Amino acid sequence: MSIIKAHDVTLYGGNDQYKIVLRPLTDEDLPYLYKWNSDPEVLYWCEGDDVKSHSREVVHQIYGGISQHNLCFAIEVNGEMIGECWLQKMNLPNVKAMYADHTDVRRIDMMIGEKAFWGKGIGTLFIGMLVQYAFEGEHVEILHCYCEDYNIRSRRVWEKNGFTLILTEEIPQPSKGKLQYHWRLTKDEYDRRRDEESRV
Ligand SMILES: CC(C)(COP(=O)(O)OP(=O)(O)OC[C@H]1O[C@@H](n2cnc3c(N)ncnc32)[C@H](O)[C@@H]1OP(=O)(O)O)[C@@H](O)C(=O)NCCC(=O)NCCS
Repeated sequence: MSIIKAHDVTLYGGNDQYKIVLRPLTDEDLPYLYKWNSDPEVLYWCEGDDVKSHSREVVHQIYGGISQHNLCFAIEVNGEMIGECWLQKMNLPNVKAMYADHTDVRRIDMMIGEKAFWGKGIGTLFIGMLVQYAFEGEHVEILHCYCEDYNIRSRRVWEKNGFTLILTEEIPQPSKGKLQYHWRLTKDEYDRRRDEESRV
């Protein structure tokens, strides 16, 4: 039996320089997931806690668990596997409580595991692709995402894709982050932004 439950959604996008494909994450990608999840520099940006490495068993738990009811994508750029991202049903009770019952609220989590690809605009592009799919393909009502104050690249990716900072929470100390930022994009905001962009 497979560890990661695959789906059948593949998204194509990018620009002249970077051809991006978001395809179903599968067990064949596990060697990449082991590598990235044992790289302290990658985990520094992904984990609130000071985790240096995840064992293979923990990697199986993370991706095996999340993929049962959510969409996990491999990120390929010009044919090279560079990271993964998830479109996940909101799982945090305090965030769910902010919205009416039955509202389709999802979160996106992202990791470019190949560090040479950080800061080249690729995160902004693939999140744009996933946001479009969330609203137009999955008919999500609200995307509600997070980052901590020290993660400027993550913050910029949300901002550049039209998300609004709606809540800032203090993180219990000691922790490398002082503040947790909550970013939100609603379907209406997404539609307005798309209409404005199509007029330019
Ligand atoms: C977060 C992540 C997906 C962002 O993707 P990316 O391709 O690196 O980001 P982009 O290149 O699209 O955008 C980065 C932005 O941050 C800006 N930036 C980067 N470092 C910065 C700094 N120290 N100060 C100010 N701005 C900075 C860049 O200039 C760019 O913004 P701009 O386009 O306005 O100039 C990627 O870096 C990553 O996976 N990092 C490791 C894991 C991680 O952080 N995951 C997210 C957890 S919340």
